[in-house]
Order: sequence, then structure tokens, then C-alpha cells
Amino acid sequence: MQGNYQQQYQSFIHDPGEFWLTQAKRIPWFKAPQHAYTQDNDGLYHWYADSQLNSCYLALDQHVAAGFGEQTALIYDSPVTDSKCTYSYLQLQQEVAKFAGVMQSLGVVKGDRVVIYMPMIPQAVIGMLACARLGAIHSVVFGGFAAHELAVRIDDAKPKLILSASCGVEVNSVIAYKPLIDNAKKLAEHKVAHSIIYQRKHSTAKLNATDIDWEQAMQTAEPADVVPVAGDHPLYILYTSGTTGTPKGVIRENAGHAVAMHYSMETVYGMQPGEVFWAASDIGWVVGHSYIVYAPLMFRCTTVLYEGKPVRTPDASAFWRVVEEYQVNALFSAPTAFRAIKKEDPTAEGFKKYDTTSLKRLFLAGERLDPATYAWLTEHTQLPVLDHWWQTETGWAIACNPIGIEQLNTKPGSATVPTPGFDVQILNVDGSQCAANEQGAVVIKLPLPPGCLPTIWQNTKRYKAGYLSEYPGYYLTGDGGYLDDDGYLFIMGRTDDVINVAGHRLSTGEMEEIVAAHPAVAECAVFGVNDSLKGQLPMAMIVLKNDFIGNPTDVEQQLILAVRNQIGAIACLKNIVSVERLPKTRSGKILRKNLRQLIDGDELQIPSTIDDASIFNEISQQLNDR
Ligand code: COA
Ligand code: AMP
Repeated sequence: MQGNYQQQYQSFIHDPGEFWLTQAKRIPWFKAPQHAYTQDNDGLYHWYADSQLNSCYLALDQHVAAGFGEQTALIYDSPVTDSKCTYSYLQLQQEVAKFAGVMQSLGVVKGDRVVIYMPMIPQAVIGMLACARLGAIHSVVFGGFAAHELAVRIDDAKPKLILSASCGVEVNSVIAYKPLIDNAKKLAEHKVAHSIIYQRKHSTAKLNATDIDWEQAMQTAEPADVVPVAGDHPLYILYTSGTTGTPKGVIRENAGHAVAMHYSMETVYGMQPGEVFWAASDIGWVVGHSYIVYAPLMFRCTTVLYEGKPVRTPDASAFWRVVEEYQVNALFSAPTAFRAIKKEDPTAEGFKKYDTTSLKRLFLAGERLDPATYAWLTEHTQLPVLDHWWQTETGWAIACNPIGIEQLNTKPGSATVPTPGFDVQILNVDGSQCAANEQGAVVIKLPLPPGCLPTIWQNTKRYKAGYLSEYPGYYLTGDGGYLDDDGYLFIMGRTDDVINVAGHRLSTGEMEEIVAAHPAVAECAVFGVNDSLKGQLPMAMIVLKNDFIGNPTDVEQQLILAVRNQIGAIACLKNIVSVERLPKTRSGKILRKNLRQLIDGDELQIPSTIDDASIFNEISQQLNDR
């Protein structure tokens, strides 16, 4: 490759600091950075630490000041509640400033944490931006998580305030949030002074003495000004699943994030200010943070906030209806969403029904874009279908087709090439470089570029142990894969206990902890198995205690409920089977990978250290007998 991409990539490799100081000129600073990155006493990297800025100012005020106040900033489209509305940049700025005033009057100041547990409504975006305006650190918790998950995050982030709504509206159900919040508050050790609740008409919440009604508070609020913060001040904490039951609080710092968001809108997504960008995700995930809220607004695009599903709201043409209605120029979603559409509308009749000529490109991420979905989308939409690979930790694409620089040929199954800023390498277990086409651990040479996590909230030890210690000088992504002869990156899946269910990142370790806690369970293994719609689904194998008396299916049902109650409905652990014993190595390690291979029908790669290999026939037999 000799083109513009290669030139830009080489200019980054040659001098990352200089490259990113140049990119930093993209945004208006209160105090421009003199230094690109610095290392703190723990050896952690921070970008533009000597700068001053405000992320809410970049998302809203700068555009209003530049005369774009009348441009539509946000479109809210909610097929589940049959409602729609738009906010201009000026309207959104005014709402955000007023809501920041509400929080300020409750004592929220720079550095305070605010937990946001909300459905996909404009008030969620207003809450996030209002935190940014004050320099408060938001931590959005996905609405599909249960009270226990919320409590764990409350205890880790120690927020001063919770922002929520009376309910979430799903396809066939209304989920009351207030009981979940009350329960989480009871479970958490950290005590939160107030909750501000937005009342939705589908189910209003009964407020108690410490709860504040969102709209009432807004009626008397005074708008708050933007508070300048240092470049390395955290903008948000977003919890993501690790290999244990305790989620990891990924920190995003203001300055690096702002520069990365701006750079990515142009380089990764090829957008122009004024265009319409739609990330069909949820604000509870990193895709929502980066590409529903911050990047489109900082880049002065119009963003779409869609409270619905790709199917069943009301049918498989929902995405194409939204594209036509708002003249969407770029659509970003997870492959699982398109598999759901494909299943219900195999010949893409919905696509033909709407005028989608505004749409220039489709972007896919969250899980590997399987070649079948890629082929279906390409055939029926005739659009460039661009896979790109990233994770909560990085906040933006590690590998992409850098169309803003040069549109490269796509290769099905590949996320294309490393994005400038990411020095991606493939390493063997011994730390040596893999040859082209040889699979290994995908790592990124330090420093990570702007926008990526500097560490884990209040837990640098865990950050170092989980990401930096395996290969000194490199960040371990947790994914396995390879680079081919042309430098194209193929991500083949996680090498740890993280699974990806319908684009949602979940920890099998966490589910295992819940299953193992059942009094009838002697031991268990939870692992991810292939699913044609959701990519992966969790499955549990349990061994019941010798003295267990009763029906094993009762235990299985109790476990399904326990995981649903503790993690949330999105965990989808519905496949639980009890077996006589589990395969182990002689040292007692359960061979989860082999169980996954057995269920998926893959070739069994049994380690020589196995205790008794006949166990796989035994388990197969038991599964056949069910
Ligand atoms: N609040 C409360 N509950 C939620 C929820 C939320 N925000 N999101 C999902 N749930 C619940 C669902 O109602 C469902 O509950 P049920 O078991 O009682 O029916 C359960 O969690 C599983 O939901 P989901 O995994 O979404 O399955 P689904 O069958 O309802 O829909 C898809 C399948 C593929 C259509 C859907 O998962 C989808 O659109 N995925 C795209 C994901 C995505 O955008 N990921 C972000 C990365 S880009
Ligand atoms: P999350 O942190 O929820 O965004 O999940 C990140 C993980 O999802 C990555 O580590 C990958 O395992 C997987 N992932 C995300 N995007 C892709 C992609 N385009 N191709 C392959 N895997 C992906």
C-alpha cells in the first residue's frame, strides 16, 4: 500500500506526538496544549494534560457562537412510544445549560460523579452534556442492567447524584426504573443524596423525599456556564465487563477524547459538518457515548437518537424508514441488528420500499462482521459496508477502512487496516512478533492514542495487571487475530472470558459466580456458544451436589432467573444443563474452551494435560438424551 493512508500512517509512526499535536489544532481550546502526551508517576500516559477545554462547549456552544444555532443537533425518534422531536443546537444548548444549573444547585461541582441510568430519550443526552458542562464525571449505566449491576457501579463510582427516568419502554413491555433504583440504593454501601427523575407518561414513578422531579426542577433553574477543565480531567467513566464479576471503570479524559472524536468523524466515517449521522446503538454502550452523543455534535453533524429496535418496531424496515425520514448520510450499527433484519426480510423488501439515496455508507462494529451478513448487505444495499474494530477501552476504531483519507478495498472478515494512531502488532505467547497470516494476541504499542483509557477508575493495579503486564510496552486488547500479507487485520475473537451477545459485552466469569452461588451447585462452567442471530449466547454446564434431592430442571430454572435478576435480561443465559462431571486438566482447571468446541461442533483441541478425555463422549451422550 503506497497511497495517502500509508503516508498518514507512516507520519504517525514516525512521530506520534507531533502527529497528534497537529490533529489537536482541529478544536477550539481555552488553552491549547503545548505537549502531546506525558507520563505520570505510575507510568500512565495522558494526552494534552497542559490544555484547558470543555467538552460541552465543543459539542454545543462553539457551534451556536459560530452561527449554527438553528441547525438541527438532535433528532429523537421513538417507535416504541410513537413520539418524535428535534432539538436545534441552540435549543439543546439552552436545555443543557439549564439542567447543569439544576445539578449545580444540588451541589454538583467539577470532579463529582453522576450516575445516569436512563432509556434512550433526549434527557439522557442532556444529562451527559450537562455533566460535561460542569466538569462533573458521568457514568452511564445501560438500562438493561438489573439493580445489582447498578449497585456495583454506584459503589465504585460513588456518585453525588443519580439521573433517571420513570421507565424504559421495550417492544412488548414497560420497565419501571424507580423500583430498580430504589433496590440498587439499598444494595449499595455508598449513599447517594438525590435522584432526579424524568417522568414519562407510560408509567410515572412515585417520588420520595430525596427524589427530584426533572421537569419541575427545570422550571426554576438558572442556566450554568461552562467550566473549563484540564485536558486530563475525566469526562466519563464507563463500566465494561472483564473476566470477573466486578466490572471495570474505563476512564475517558476530556482532551484526548475530543481530538479523537473529531479526527475519527473525518478519517473513519468520512463525514462533513452539517450531515446526518446515525449510530443505532444505545447510550449505555461506548458506541452511544462516542457516536450518538459526543463525536457527531463536536463535528457539527445532526445525530439521531433512536428508541427502537431494528425489527418489531414495527417491522424489519424500521432502519430504512428512519434513513429516509431524516436523510441519514451514514448508518452505524452492529452486525446482529442486520442479521435480525435479514432473518425477517431476507430479500430486503423494506430497503426497496424507502428512498435511501441519502445514505452513503454502512458502518458495522461491536462484533466480527461475518462474511454472510457482509455479502447480504452489500448485495441488497449496493453501499460500501465497512467493518471497523474497537472496544470500550479505546473509545474509537483501532482498525477501519480510513475513507476520509483513502477508501481501501474491503476484504470480507477483515476490519481493514490499523487506524493512524494505533500501532497494532500480533505477538506470540513468548512475546515475539507473529509472521504475516500467523494468528496471535492482538496488542497495541504504547502509548495508546488520544481518547483511549489512561487507566481503570480507582484501580491502576487492575489496569496494569489486566492490560499492560502480559507484554511490557504493549496494551493487550484481549482479542486474537492476524495481519495478512497486505497489512489487513482480521480479528478472530476474544482470548479471555468475555463474550459478545447481540453486540452486548458480557462476562462469563460473572455469570459463573452467580451460578456457583446456588446451594445445589457443586461446580459449573459458563461459556459462549455460537448463535446465528446474536453472534454468541452464554451456556452453563452444572454439576449438582451429591446430596441434592429434587428435579435438576428446577435448579436450571432458578439459575436462569438468578442471572436475569442480578445481571439483567440482556444476559440471556437460558441454556443450562446439568451433567455428571466437567472436563478438567490434571491440575483441576475446567476446560471451558473444549466445552464450547463440543457444543459448536468444532474440532476438539484437547490439551495433553486432560484428566480423562472420555468425558466428552459422556457429555455428548447426556446432551443427546435430553
Ligand atoms: N432496557 C431494559 N431491557 C432491555 C434493554 C434495555 N435498554 N435492552 C434489551 N433489554 C431486554 C429485552 O427486552 C429482552 O428482554 P426479554 O428477554 O424479556 O425479551 C432482553 O433484554 C434481551 O434483549 P436483546 O438482546 O436486545 O434481544 P432481542 O431479542 O430483544 O433483540 C436484536 C435482538 C438483535 C434485535 C437486538 O439485540 C439489537 O438490536 N441489537 C443491536 C445491539 C446494539 O446496538 N449493540 C450496540 C453495539 S453497536
Ligand atoms: P465493547 O467493549 O463492548 O465494544 O466490545 C469490544 C469487543 O467486541 C472487542 O474486544 C471485540 O472482541 C469485539 N468487537 C468489536 N468490534 C469488532 C469487530 N469489528 N470485529 C471483531 N470483533 C469486534
